Amino acid sequence: MKLVKLLANLGYGSRKDVSLMLRNGWVTRADGSELGADDVAAHDDIRVDDEPLDPAQGMVLMLHKPVGYTCSTKDTGRLIYDLLPPRFRLRNPVLSSVGRLDRDTSGLLLMTDDGALLHTITSPKAELPKVYRAALASDLRGDEAQIFGSGTLLLESETQPLAPAGLVAITPRLAEITMVEGRYHQVRRMFAAVGNHVESLHRVSIGGLGLGDLEPGQWRLMDAADLDVLFGRAGA
Ligand code: URA
Repeated sequence: MKLVKLLANLGYGSRKDVSLMLRNGWVTRADGSELGADDVAAHDDIRVDDEPLDPAQGMVLMLHKPVGYTCSTKDTGRLIYDLLPPRFRLRNPVLSSVGRLDRDTSGLLLMTDDGALLHTITSPKAELPKVYRAALASDLRGDEAQIFGSGTLLLESETQPLAPAGLVAITPRLAEITMVEGRYHQVRRMFAAVGNHVESLHRVSIGGLGLGDLEPGQWRLMDAADLDVLFGRAGA
């Protein structure tokens, strides 16, 4: 790919901006030699203002989404993109969240510009378990695990029952839910269906992958080993 297109796709600016950067000598190789618009260089060898390039297409990251941020590119209010380098929002192909967490839900959120990977992770066929911790307004009644696990629970205004989900009570008002689906407001609606109310919700893990020591608002790039952990292929 031509340098101008590559840099523009990575969000460094419009093609016009990037052409100017090249003419000004701001784009170099690692050894400091200037790159021109028609030069060819390996991604890892390119520097902009002496900084290595952002990751190439195929980037995957994990974000510890805090409460109060929306998974959208253009909603009003605080957006998950506000937590990332501004260039990431300008990338082409677009960097999208893998599924969504509600504004008031915190926890593990994956983001990628790889459409095929996004599809693989979110596809029901992948059956990747997602684990949530829900703090509840009222004590558990005792029959929730049976109801959520039945595979017959029908949420309001839906025609397809939910796939079985697991529930483990940690305390009378704190439950861990494991599910493979990702329907709109699913956990909150599941508890509403059994007469309870979710006061706070946190996604602990997707597949084998947790947040590790990422604090709310922090993110990190993921590598092939992380994807192996996500898909349960680690150690295979
Ligand atoms: N279930 C919900 O209700 N909200 C989320 O953000 C995720 C799962």
